[in-house]
Amino acid sequence: MEQRKRILTGDRPTGKLHLGHYVGSLKNRVALQDAYECYFIIADLHTLTTRPEKEHVLELGQNVYDVVLDYLAVGIDPEKSVIFLQSALPETFELTLIFGDLVTLPRLTRLPSIKDMARAANMDDETVPFGLVGYPVLQAADILLPRAHLVPVGKDNEAHVEITREIARRFNRLYEAEVFPLPEALIGDVPTLVGTDGQAKMSKSLGNAIMLSDDAKTVEEKVRTMYTDPNRIRADIPGRVEGNPVFIYHDAFNPDVDEVNDLKERYRQGKVGDVEVKRKLARAINAFLDPIRERRAVYARQPGMVEEVLVEGTRKMQAQARQTMAMVYDAMGLTGPRLRAALQTGASFRLLA
Ligand code: TRP
Repeated sequence: MEQRKRILTGDRPTGKLHLGHYVGSLKNRVALQDAYECYFIIADLHTLTTRPEKEHVLELGQNVYDVVLDYLAVGIDPEKSVIFLQSALPETFELTLIFGDLVTLPRLTRLPSIKDMARAANMDDETVPFGLVGYPVLQAADILLPRAHLVPVGKDNEAHVEITREIARRFNRLYEAEVFPLPEALIGDVPTLVGTDGQAKMSKSLGNAIMLSDDAKTVEEKVRTMYTDPNRIRADIPGRVEGNPVFIYHDAFNPDVDEVNDLKERYRQGKVGDVEVKRKLARAINAFLDPIRERRAVYARQPGMVEEVLVEGTRKMQAQARQTMAMVYDAMGLTGPRLRAALQTGASFRLLA
């Protein structure tokens, strides 16, 4: 049988995941579990690029737990897919350092995503850490460590996959070996989901997110206070459907297309109140979240279950990481790793051929 192609993707453990994560990437991951060999990374090292403080590091345990539980809740199946913790693999640190020499500094500093993250963390050109500029290099190591072909991510990460491809190409060419595939990004059907407040992006830190773990009452409340067409001060005024967050969410989460079309039609004509549109939206989102809530409850009920999934996944990823690094060092012919191997096996070591 032909080897299945590989997926690698993941998230920074900054807390619980939301609907934006779902439509941007989680949905694709769940759908592709059978067609691909899937590796899902909890990228805790990436959180250190903007928040290296001890108090933050100490929050990571809880955050990692929350993300793994969200993965399991949306239907990532640990029997099929590998869920692992980035900082458990020293190979990640090694490969990042090697890759740092295969990309130019201006290529990284010009990226809008890096500028955005720096700005959000109150950093400027003078205070931006080396590690934040190197964020995509660390991500390239994540993607190429399991030699992945496909990377389901949100739009904001597309450029990082592009850089990963450049690094892979450069490595293969420099060392005349086909160690790495050239991975492609796969962007979700709603590349960037608007926030409940109408801001461009749903984000927990902006306080405009509906979490996958929100209960039904919380969803109703968040939907009730959602931003809609600001010009529509009465229900009998024709409203705007395009770009209206309430309808963007209806399109993304309400499977009843007839109901959605009917609401849009009446909204445009000024023949439906926001209350009805929102009530139906809350119902649709809650129906979407119900099976996710049920799976979450099953996993959360069993103590140690989440940890067990992570340990097993990391064990599988470790085997892949070791294999890749052996290929990398072999292709490069670097001396130190040969010495390291000699130390491990007790074999003799020669500097000169
Ligand atoms: N950069 C991703 C994010 O925003 C997280 C991440 C880290 C990632 N390593 C990755 C995504 C590798 C895809 C592949 O949140």
